[in-house]
Amino acid sequence: MPRDKKREIAEYIQIEGVDSEQVYSSIERPQDLSKGDYALPCFKFSKILRKSPIAIAEMLRDQILKKTDSFESVEAINGYLNFKFDKKKETLYLLKEIFEKGANYADSNEGAGKTVCIDYSSVNIAKPFHIGHLLTTAIGGALYRTYRKLGYNPVGINHLGDWGTQFGKLIVAFKKWGKEKDLLEKGVTYLTELYVKFHKEAESEPYLDDLAREYFKRIEDGDKESLDLFSLFKDITLREVSKVYARLNIVFDSYAGESFYNDKMAPILKEIEDKLLMQISDGAGIVDLSPYNMPPCLLVKADGATLYATRDIAAAFYRKKTYDFWKCLYIVAYQQNLHFKQFFKVIEMMGYDWAKDLIHVPFGMVSLESGSLSTRKGNVVLLNDVLNKATEKSLEIIQQKSPNLKDKELVAEKVGVGAVLFFGLSSGRIKDTVFCYDQVLNFDGETGPYVQYTNARCNSIIRKSEIPVTNLTPDFSSEELNSISDDSSFSLISLLSKFGEVLTDSLEKYEPSFITRYIVDVSQSFNKFYLENRIIDGATGTNKPRLALVYATRTVLTEGMRLLGIEAVEEM
Ligand code: ARG
Repeated sequence: MPRDKKREIAEYIQIEGVDSEQVYSSIERPQDLSKGDYALPCFKFSKILRKSPIAIAEMLRDQILKKTDSFESVEAINGYLNFKFDKKKETLYLLKEIFEKGANYADSNEGAGKTVCIDYSSVNIAKPFHIGHLLTTAIGGALYRTYRKLGYNPVGINHLGDWGTQFGKLIVAFKKWGKEKDLLEKGVTYLTELYVKFHKEAESEPYLDDLAREYFKRIEDGDKESLDLFSLFKDITLREVSKVYARLNIVFDSYAGESFYNDKMAPILKEIEDKLLMQISDGAGIVDLSPYNMPPCLLVKADGATLYATRDIAAAFYRKKTYDFWKCLYIVAYQQNLHFKQFFKVIEMMGYDWAKDLIHVPFGMVSLESGSLSTRKGNVVLLNDVLNKATEKSLEIIQQKSPNLKDKELVAEKVGVGAVLFFGLSSGRIKDTVFCYDQVLNFDGETGPYVQYTNARCNSIIRKSEIPVTNLTPDFSSEELNSISDDSSFSLISLLSKFGEVLTDSLEKYEPSFITRYIVDVSQSFNKFYLENRIIDGATGTNKPRLALVYATRTVLTEGMRLLGIEAVEEM
């Protein structure tokens, strides 16, 4: 558990008529850290205490100073109570904590007993895995790992798009024109080609569409030949996608996709009918959402076919029953805002209060600098191709910068793929972004490679010091600590101490970009510290407290990258 400094402060404060939780949640981080490390605004307590905030702050200050001298200072300024922690105590505390915990630094159990379902990536069978899937995959993966670090039980779900009449079309196309050899060789690309051909042919041969419907029905009815082909298409897609997941360090606990809910919709549709929520409109079953200013939620078509929303409702019930989630997140582009609002509402109307725990986590669009990334035929940009190109370009840069580096290809893979992930996680989710290789790979920008480079710099200092870190117990005397008491060292130290808070905040807002921002800040702060302080000095040997700070920085950077799915490289 990271130390909770707000809690420490709150324990010293008693205000009549205000419970300690409220005091705790009122404590904030001042914008201007020169005023203090934490502050308590006293305005809120004026009414209850019938005193001015200024008087309250002064009263509380006196109360605290009588009880403890563990703060460096406690000051009442303009109705604020400002706290400064003792720098050296803080420093020692932090270094010991990081040395003791290593990668587990900032782990916590704040999520104990809470299961979070995360529906992410959720690819479509027989369709290309394109760069449009980068954000859902990267954000979902980062949230998954961060939840786990904070003691939650995350369940990663790939809600496969493996249902719909398009599979009937594919079967028809494959039977008519397909060759198994080509399919095995070309994979999903071949399936998309067949799909395009089907559409072209069906324009002049409309019977093909009827045939496709017929074949889709055969899958539904469990016809062996059709099911076998359907499974083959599915296997081929998943095999391809899995390779990309492996590069991105992405894992799932469940691949229960749309087809999995085939036999789970009927009882739910019946319940909706029994609760008098279903209306028939032109033969179709809908739930009227006009009281909520939304178009109706279509659940059953006139021909009896179910829809995307129907399967999502069944999936939500299944997840509630199977995992008893605390929250169920859907990491899906904002284009689907209405879909989620609609089906969440239907579940709420059915009387389930857990509908409030279903959360759509939307994100914006990625476009390539040379134009939008459409999924329409011809101009899809495959995510795997983007990773390949980023890796190639990294290799070129590495070859220039460090021609003698060992295992350059391996390093380039981690740096290149990491740069793409970092890009996907670097702006606020909702923003539309433009992907540009040169920016993403700029070693001096606020990028993945910059953080990798800083982390590798830490490694190289540690190597050169020739002091095994395990021999470096950070039990420094007050005098020794003077060498890391300057401003740039202390800024770095206070930044490192915030790791846990950043993780909590990023989960609260479902924003991995907080972590991305944070590791850039740590890197910049480290590079300033490094510029201003000599760590290995020829004359006097290694400055151990500074080396300890390098180790602490490396620990946080490596772990921060891991949470984002990025593997740190040892050297670069
Ligand atoms: N396969 C869908 C798509 O590519 C995303 C599915 C998201 N998850 C869900 N439960 N609806 O648009």
